[in-house]
Amino acid sequence: MDWEQQYSFCFCLLFLTLLPFLTTGQTSKNFSLGSSLTALDDDSSYKESPSGDFAFGFRQIKPDGFLLAVWFNKIPERTIVWSANGANLAPKGSKIELTSDGLFQLNDPNGKEIWNAESSSIVVDHAAMLDTGNFVLANQDSVYLWESFGQPTDTILPTQTLSQPSKLVSRYTETNYSSGRFQFVLQEDGHLSLYTTKFPLDSVNFAYLTTQIFGNGFELFFNKSGSIYVRASNGSIISMVLNSSSSQDFYQRAILEHDGVFRQYLYPKGNSSSVQRWPMAWSVVSFIPSNICSIVENIGSGACGFNSYCMQDQRPSCQCPLGYTFINPDDVLKGCKQNFVSQSCDEATPETHLFGFHEMQNTNWPNSDYANFQGVTEDWCRKACLSDCFCSVAIYNGGQCWMKKTPLSNGVSDASVSGKALIKIRKDNSTLTPNGTNKKERSTLIIIGSVLLGSSGLLNFLLLGVTFLGVFHFKFKKSEVIQPFPTAGITLRSFTYEELRKATNGFEEEIGRGAFATVYKGVLLDNNKNLIAVKNLNDSVKEGDREFKAEVSAIGRTNHRNLVQLLGFCNEGKHRLVVYEFMCNGSLASFLFTNPRPNWYQRIQIALGTARGLLYLHEECSTQIIHCDIKPQNVLIDDSCVARISDFGLAKLLKTDQTRTTTAIRGTKGYVAPEWFRSMPITVKVDVYSYGILLLELISCRRSFEAEAENEDQMVLTDWTYDCFRDKKLSLMVENDDVAREDMKKVEKYVMIAIWCIQEDPSLRPTMKKVLQMLEGAIDVPIPPDPTSFMSSI
Ligand SMILES: *[C@@H]1O[C@H](CO)[C@@H](O)[C@H](O)[C@H]1NC(C)=O
Ligand SMILES: *[C@@H]1O[C@H](CO)[C@@H](O)[C@H](O)[C@H]1NC(C)=O
Ligand SMILES: *[C@@H]1O[C@H](CO)[C@@H](O)[C@H](O)[C@H]1NC(C)=O
Ligand SMILES: *[C@@H]1O[C@H](CO)[C@@H](O)[C@H](O)[C@H]1NC(C)=O
Ligand SMILES: *[C@@H]1O[C@H](CO)[C@@H](O)[C@H](O)[C@H]1NC(C)=O
Ligand SMILES: *[C@@H]1O[C@H](CO)[C@@H](O)[C@H](O)[C@H]1NC(C)=O
Ligand SMILES: *[C@@H]1O[C@H](CO)[C@@H](O)[C@H](O)[C@H]1NC(C)=O
Ligand SMILES: *[C@@H]1O[C@H](CO)[C@@H](O)[C@H](O)[C@H]1NC(C)=O
Ligand SMILES: *[C@@H]1O[C@H](CO)[C@@H](O)[C@H](O)[C@H]1NC(C)=O
Ligand SMILES: *[C@@H]1O[C@H](CO)[C@@H](O)[C@H](O)[C@H]1NC(C)=O
Repeated sequence: MDWEQQYSFCFCLLFLTLLPFLTTGQTSKNFSLGSSLTALDDDSSYKESPSGDFAFGFRQIKPDGFLLAVWFNKIPERTIVWSANGANLAPKGSKIELTSDGLFQLNDPNGKEIWNAESSSIVVDHAAMLDTGNFVLANQDSVYLWESFGQPTDTILPTQTLSQPSKLVSRYTETNYSSGRFQFVLQEDGHLSLYTTKFPLDSVNFAYLTTQIFGNGFELFFNKSGSIYVRASNGSIISMVLNSSSSQDFYQRAILEHDGVFRQYLYPKGNSSSVQRWPMAWSVVSFIPSNICSIVENIGSGACGFNSYCMQDQRPSCQCPLGYTFINPDDVLKGCKQNFVSQSCDEATPETHLFGFHEMQNTNWPNSDYANFQGVTEDWCRKACLSDCFCSVAIYNGGQCWMKKTPLSNGVSDASVSGKALIKIRKDNSTLTPNGTNKKERSTLIIIGSVLLGSSGLLNFLLLGVTFLGVFHFKFKKSEVIQPFPTAGITLRSFTYEELRKATNGFEEEIGRGAFATVYKGVLLDNNKNLIAVKNLNDSVKEGDREFKAEVSAIGRTNHRNLVQLLGFCNEGKHRLVVYEFMCNGSLASFLFTNPRPNWYQRIQIALGTARGLLYLHEECSTQIIHCDIKPQNVLIDDSCVARISDFGLAKLLKTDQTRTTTAIRGTKGYVAPEWFRSMPITVKVDVYSYGILLLELISCRRSFEAEAENEDQMVLTDWTYDCFRDKKLSLMVENDDVAREDMKKVEKYVMIAIWCIQEDPSLRPTMKKVLQMLEGAIDVPIPPDPTSFMSSI
């Protein structure tokens, strides 16, 4: 029986539409009113497009679970590109039907609705599987009233457009089509962003990749030759997202996969000569982001599950550290569980000797610290972690020891990560025993872990709170009990407002002014008559006594040759002031941009000093400090001509709403990294960007933006630099500097390092450690790409 017959049959018996009906896919005519398909075991219920490239119908996913889907029907994989009911599979015998009154609905065998195409039914005349992969409901004039292209799941196909706002949601696992943990969203304001979700809710965390704001009236388009881009209503390309140039000889699709990567795939259609070198399988031709492991850092578990770590080879993969195994190997994003009995916290039976470490280089779980020690040896770090029953992992990096608690989150193993992880495991490998001595403590932890993975947001929040309190309590106890090397620290002095008023002679001599503070010169009225710089922070600073004190003491604990030392503070009534040592040679801005200019070798020393100071802030001091406002005005020069970074840590003193809004971006125009404008996570890489600009200014002795440049191409330093570099005309940048011109090898090397630092894609920028190693010549500098290539690729 074919579809034509079915149509007349049902036309005659208008109300007899419940008769199950089976097609075998050979027919290529459209669904008419009253026709249906029934889910059967042999996967035979589907309807092909005229060319046979695509089919619409039922696919059996589980023994009694069918997916109503669209798939590529000419390839053995029969890859699914759209589905209606991923979260709610249909049992055998379910039926998709275009009812006589124009409703298109999926019902289970008892007639209960599972899904329906929400279209106005009145004028629906037929449904059709088109050759593009679009499944449509149409009226008599073939005007589409509903399209699967308008309700995408995780895949888009050539000729498909997404209009604002719309999104793709990754599936849960490769074979589970219910909503997963990542989203690709074209927002109303034109942003195109990738997000992790607050699974199992579908609300999102911070974007881990995002384009600049475009505005309204844009759409995402996948054209036939394999370009996926945002275009304006007049058709002009605003931003390329993925681009392969492929011919009609390939099937194509782009999918936000369950691992959070948006990939474009090709599959050769036949064996014409142009596709001979391609395997008969889907091949990835392009994808974003380039390395998801190193860019996702969020509340939640990160790109992988809790207690696991992410490693990008060709694809990102999630792994468990030694001593841990996947909770569910078929769902690795669920994370890993510990396989041994935890250490006893009973002081009578310390068990220290029963545990040892597995070492992993270049691995970290950045958000799981509960304690940090500096100026210690690796051996000390190991012993401290062994004697601490809360310590699950210790990270050792250049004299610093971080202790990590479970569940470990945002794990990453990547060459860009410095330091080594020491995973604490029980030596005898004994596995968890339900009635073991540690039963109680361990099971609580596991409950917390599993509840966190599977329960509601509120409960998670409460539990997190509980864990946090527990850890906080412990941390307190710990630092009093086992810390044999007290951290070298300078006692901060607490000044009264009156003292500082006197010291500055009534705030007489102003030596600087910024967006949120004015700086005055002063002299301490004690024996040494030391000069000081007093910074009067204005109302943009957070109120809240405790917070101010906590931040100030974090700044006070820093101590490095390339930082300006904080001496004290005043926190009295509405007054918030910070007191620094005074730098008599002023800032790098006046040093660099006024005559006589520092010579090439002095500039190299300043570049190195600033890099060392930043490296200390990022990786070596007890709490990581992101400066957020690196620029020549904030690098001071001391009387030995050494660069000293000032104003670090102040970003954290600002009211939170000021740190992130586009109207009040922290940092200074010309030096701020593009991610400030793109609602991407703010990481240490924003400082690397600003450092890159500063380095270019040091090389060329000119400002990052020179409105009065001789010609237009030279106005923006970064653009001009890349032009000079590309055209091999770097000597232009040091034109009147004979000393530098004699040292062109180094000039070129420094320019290349700076270009790496100013890459638009934060993940391409090196860490400050790498920057320093390159500056010092410890490692080679690879040829940098065009810094803006990221902008044009997303
Ligand atoms: C099937 O539906 C499509 C879309 O409405 C239409 O273009 C096509 O002519 C129809 N084919 C037949 C055989 O009715
Ligand atoms: C897919 O995963 C979800 C979320 O964990 C689960 O509820 C559902 O049962 C799974 N579906 C299948 C078919 O396994
Ligand atoms: C698709 O877009 C690319 C990039 O703009 C363009 O080069 C190509 O000609 C387009 N292809 C078609 C078929 O329009
Ligand atoms: C198309 O629109 C974009 C954005 O609205 C605009 O920048 C561009 O100049 C327009 N192009 C043409 C050819 O009108
Ligand atoms: C897309 O890629 C093709 C070839 O790979 C290239 O010719 C074309 O210029 C690219 N288009 C854009 C806008 O990047
Ligand atoms: C591809 O080649 C095989 C054998 O070489 C042949 O059997 C098959 O028909 C060819 N397919 C197409 C689509 O040309
Ligand atoms: C514990 O496991 C590790 C790694 O699987 C193995 O090398 C070691 O021999 C095991 N130790 C014991 C005591 O079984
Ligand atoms: C161990 O625990 C199980 C259930 O948790 C219990 O049935 C069993 O009696 C316990 N065994 C011992 C020796 O306590
Ligand atoms: C305080 O902030 C305002 C703007 O927020 C600024 O105009 C003013 O100069 C600042 N005052 C001081 C004393 O820095
Ligand atoms: C300032 O820097 C210069 C070197 O540029 C140095 O000779 C001098 O001693 C420094 N100190 C003062 C107070 O100028």
